[in-house]
Order: sequence, then C-alpha cells, then structure tokens
Amino acid sequence: MNRILKVTTPLLPPLEEFQGSLSQIWKDKQVANYGQFHDKLEEALQKFLKVKELSLFTNGTIALMSAVRALGLSGEVITTPYSFIASTHILKWAGITPVFVDIEPRFCTIDPDMIEQAITEKTSAILGVHIYGNSCNTEKIDTIAKKHGIKVIYDAAHAFGVEKNGKSLLEEGDLSVMSFHATKVFNTAEGGAIVSKDGEARKQIDYLKNFGIENETEVVTCGINGKMDELRAAYGLICLKYVESAISSRKKAAEAYRSALADLKGVSFISEQEGVKSNYGYFPIFIDCDEYGMSRDVLYSRLRESNILCRRYFYPLITDCPEYMNEPSAKATNLPVANKKASQVICLPIHHELSAEDIERVIVAIRKRG
Ligand SMILES: Cc1ncc(COP(=O)(O)O)c(C=O)c1O
Repeated sequence: MNRILKVTTPLLPPLEEFQGSLSQIWKDKQVANYGQFHDKLEEALQKFLKVKELSLFTNGTIALMSAVRALGLSGEVITTPYSFIASTHILKWAGITPVFVDIEPRFCTIDPDMIEQAITEKTSAILGVHIYGNSCNTEKIDTIAKKHGIKVIYDAAHAFGVEKNGKSLLEEGDLSVMSFHATKVFNTAEGGAIVSKDGEARKQIDYLKNFGIENETEVVTCGINGKMDELRAAYGLICLKYVESAISSRKKAAEAYRSALADLKGVSFISEQEGVKSNYGYFPIFIDCDEYGMSRDVLYSRLRESNILCRRYFYPLITDCPEYMNEPSAKATNLPVANKKASQVICLPIHHELSAEDIERVIVAIRKRG
C-alpha cells in the first residue's frame, strides 16, 4: 500500500537540538512564567516577522479571546463564515453576536463590499480572516472601519510570514492574531500570538495574558492565563531556524500543483495575490462537479482510499454549525459564494516533507479522478 500522505505534518525541531534546550530548562528550573526562552522567542519572532510588538500566547484561541477583550468589543462583530470554527466561537464566548457576510470568490476572504450594509449601531468591529494566508482587502476594510469608527481584528492564524507590498500583513488592522498550532507553517505544538501596533496596546495585552497581574500585590485588570511555557518556546526557537527552508519546500509543491493541474477541466485554484509574499501554508483546489465529472466528496473518498489524506478546509461552513445556523445573517441565500466554495474545496497535501514522487502521486490521482 502507498505511504500515507497527510495534508500537513508538523515542522519538528531536530530532537538533539531540542534536548539541548531541555537540558538548559532543567538546569534553570524555570518552566513557565516568562523564562529566557519565552522572551527570546518573542524577540526572534518580532525580528523574523518584521513587526514591532508581538506577545506570545498559549494558543491562537485564547489570543483571539484576549484581542476581543483588549479592544473592548461588544454587541455585534461582522465576520466571515468561511474559516475554522474558533474564529466565531471566540465572539460567542464574549457574548458578541457574529454577523456573517459573504466572501469574495477570488481569495475566499471576507467581501468588503458586503460589510457596510451589515453595520448597525451595535457593530463594534470587523473580524477578517486571512484565510489560507490570503490577504483580506485590508485597504477597503480600513476605510470602512475608519468611516464608522469601529475596530478591526485580523485572524492571521494562517498568515505567518505573509507580507504585502514588502510589509508584514500582521501589522494591518488594530490587532492581528496568530496560531502556532502543529498544523501551521510555524508551530510550537500549541501556541499563538497577538501582534499590536504600539507599546501601550502591547502592555494591555500582556496584562490580559497574565491574569491582569501588575506585581506581587496589584491586579490591574481581569486577565486570563494565556502564557506560553518555556518548553514550547524553546521548541519554537529551534523551529524558527528551519521555517524558511520549510516554506521553500512548500513553494515547490504549490508550483508543481499549479502547473500540473492548470489545464484540468473542473479544477480551479486560488490565484496568487499581487504584491503578496505567500507562505504556501495551504493548497486548496475547487471541484466543479459537472465539469470534472465527479463530486468533491467522491474525489475526497477516493483519495483517502489511496492514502492521500486531503482535508475539506473549510467545510462545513461555520454558519452550518447548530450554534450559528439560526443567526439571521447565516442564511445560505445571504452567503452564496461561501456556500459554493465550501461545497467544492479540497486542500491538497502541502508540507516540508513531501518528495517530488509524493507530489506526482497527488497530481496523478487528481488527474485520473481518484
Ligand atoms: C483560522 C483559524 N483561526 C483560529 C485558529 C485557532 O488557533 P489555535 O488552534 O492555536 O487555538 C485556527 C487553528 O487552529 C485557525 O485555523
């Protein structure tokens, strides 16, 4: 039987290097609460990502929840149904009503032309997701937010290292939130971060991730425990050395898929964005059943049977989850593009360990319809 090809595999630090860091941690006996590895990783990520203020978190979800809190959001937040469920759950946890608008067909990001009509006096923010690392239309979103005096958060879980016109995408909006989950281009097993624009915002975020503690006797705000521990920070510091090479391998896979599938009827993919430096985190393709001669789900099952474990990110839509399906904005007629994309998408394997033969195997399978 063919070897299993997963959609992704974690970028692991070489074990010997990690053992060296573990020995240091054992010596220091500091495993949590901002030891040297935590601080070094924050600094290294700021440099690597070309951002001024980055605060590490224990995962992306707690970071998103803290970002909502830091901006004092309430009422309604306008967002996309085409994402991982955490993007919306964090609003619900804050007692905020998600208001869903459709995505634009080229990049699957929130459609800025749908945002303004969804704004009410209760709207406090727009939450865009740079899905698959594709940049939201940050210029239009910024203009709308300024006009209506509302905040902007970007769920940048997929946007590690993505740049737009030579600048980090992570500095768009009021706050950007990253995930360093094992499935991401850069990972710390579980982890995340908030990128903020200035020292004052960063200070508030740092309070929020540490119970609001100022010092031994003072608690200045109602924070949570969002801190990253030393073991994962040490793991991340090593991974960071290898991430550029992992992104190059991903790029090779993406280029091979693009050129081999370009002429295949019924298969389309997302075009590269002008001025955007990608991280090649995902390679989604979209299956038009009539033209391809097979439904997305039949193809998905056939690929699984031959040990090619693709994933249908992002299906089902968040608005099809019982928690959200009764929201007035969740109606399928309100979200035709998102519904279509969710019914057609398959993400192909893309990661740093794929060989040329692996990539060829995926291409052959897609071309022969399973
Ligand atoms: C778009 C998106 N948002 C949020 C999250 C949540 O991040 P975490 O798993 O680090 O909590 C993820 C993935 O894990 C994600 O893909």
